[in-house]
Amino acid sequence: MEEKKTMLSGIKPSGDLTLGSYLGPLHHWPKMIEEYDCYFFMADLHAITVRQDPAALRRRTIEQLAQYIACGLDPEKCTLFIQSHVHQHAELGWVLNCYAMFGELSRMTQFKDKSAKNADNINGGLFTYPSLMAADILLYQPDLVPVGDDQKQHVELTRNIVQRFNGVYGDVFKMPESYIPKVGARIMSLTDPAAKMSKSDNGDTGRVTLMDDPNVIMKQFKRAITDSDTERCVRYDPENKPGVANLMTIYAAATGRSFAEIEQEFDGLGYGKFKPAVGEAVVEMIRPIQEETRRILADKAYLESVYRAGAEKASYAAEKTLRKVYKKIGFAAR
Ligand code: TRP
Repeated sequence: MEEKKTMLSGIKPSGDLTLGSYLGPLHHWPKMIEEYDCYFFMADLHAITVRQDPAALRRRTIEQLAQYIACGLDPEKCTLFIQSHVHQHAELGWVLNCYAMFGELSRMTQFKDKSAKNADNINGGLFTYPSLMAADILLYQPDLVPVGDDQKQHVELTRNIVQRFNGVYGDVFKMPESYIPKVGARIMSLTDPAAKMSKSDNGDTGRVTLMDDPNVIMKQFKRAITDSDTERCVRYDPENKPGVANLMTIYAAATGRSFAEIEQEFDGLGYGKFKPAVGEAVVEMIRPIQEETRRILADKAYLESVYRAGAEKASYAAEKTLRKVYKKIGFAAR
């Protein structure tokens, strides 16, 4: 039998998962678990680069796991784990810090953005975030790393580290490729179509979380920004009508309809009919996920068994790579 290729990705539990998290990564991952040997994790080590409330971080980490499963990531068919449960991440992260250059870390867009947003807490972890992410990836020798647009630069940096490291020590790490799904990859804020729908910008009226009450979701969509153009019709024109284009992208994903079909459906109806229709479609799309998440969350013993088994499997694979690295760089054998 031919060996399956390996795939890995993670999300930081730094905020509740949003519609953007769903239509971006979460909706695509379950399709990959048959074809690839998949690892998915909650990146709690990364989450603390921004100050977190401890109880909220713990709650969101477990809830995120339940949501992964509710979205179709069957723990029997892929490895689901919590990053901090697999100590090899922090260990390889340290090593890779010594192979990531100050200059290249300084150029990371996310570092610059986050530093601007958290001017009172520009900590070392925020700066070395990408070398920990490189460790997350390289421990499992994946072929493919599905990420959002905003993480591509970090995967590029990972590739530089691989080249640098392998250049000195031989073929230790497999060269990973980033993979950015084409459709629905980027859902924008409902109130600012120029910004990504973010899970960690608190108090943002522009986002819908996966666990939001249907009434809240409807309200958010009813007050979504459309555009200030005068034609007021539902037409796909991301350049000139980014708000409408974003709503159309969401509606298309939720209903499976094409942009042309949507334009036809709302021909002559204006935004007043369109916005609640998008809201309803979203409510229907996520209703089963909400129900399944609640059901799984109620079963603490099950969740515990999933993340324990996941950490054990992940740790086994990660340890193999870490040992090889330690040997190559000259650490004394234990
Ligand atoms: N940085 C990613 C994000 O903010 C999360 C992440 C951490 C990740 N480690 C990773 C994604 C490794 C892919 C691979 O969304």
